[in-house]
Amino acid sequence: MFILILGAPGSGKGTQGKILAERLGLPKITTGDLLRAAMQAQTPLGTEAKKYYDAGKLVPDSVILGMIKDELARPEAKDGAILDGFPRTAAQAELVDKTLAERGQRLNHILLLDVTEEELVRRMRSRAQLEGRSDDTPEAIATRLQVYQRDTAPLIAHYAQRGIVHRVPGTGTVEQITEEIKRIIGR
Ligand code: AP5
Ligand code: MG
Repeated sequence: MFILILGAPGSGKGTQGKILAERLGLPKITTGDLLRAAMQAQTPLGTEAKKYYDAGKLVPDSVILGMIKDELARPEAKDGAILDGFPRTAAQAELVDKTLAERGQRLNHILLLDVTEEELVRRMRSRAQLEGRSDDTPEAIATRLQVYQRDTAPLIAHYAQRGIVHRVPGTGTVEQITEEIKRIIGR
């Protein structure tokens, strides 16, 4: 089963994705984590990505599409995966749809975590103090929210046509949201 967790920055994709991946025994693929690891290791890809990442902008598809291809081709993701933070653009969605279709598979569920902008900002600001993530600055947070609305939110309509989008109220305790997801996907 392939499940996409979609939502604005700070909406809880990583938190809920981890719980869901453990419960279903599926790998979680997170492009943001892959980029953070590449930046940490100062690989050429990490160095290229950092200029965009730190500003809260999307890393270009020319970099991300190859990464997505490689991740979906991993043996662990043969029968399913939890996708956290991608697809994020129309080109990425096209690649994911096409790659899965070639294997006779498809995205089964899209969980759309719905959180107010005020709460998103509150969460990212508090994480900035705890973890110091380089894109949790006030400027980058504002850019990330705009970029989400412009480039990623349109994917909701793309997938809604297939009837696979479930809107999950993303405000409440982590446990309440986990329960709601369990109810939606039935396991
Ligand atoms: P990415 O790493 O994907 O970050 P994001 O989308 O900005 O989202 P976050 O990771 O900040 O939030 P989240 O939704 O995972 O929530 P979390 O569970 O952490 O991307 C970062 C950057 O990488 C992008 O800006 C871009 O530059 C680049 N990038 C990544 N993927 C890309 C792609 N496909 N294409 C192009 N560029 C790409 O929760 C947030 C906080 O809230 C945490 O502190 C958490 O503990 C807390 N929290 C969680 N749930 C709750 C709750 N119920 N109540 C209270 N607090 C909660
Ligand atoms: Mg995340």
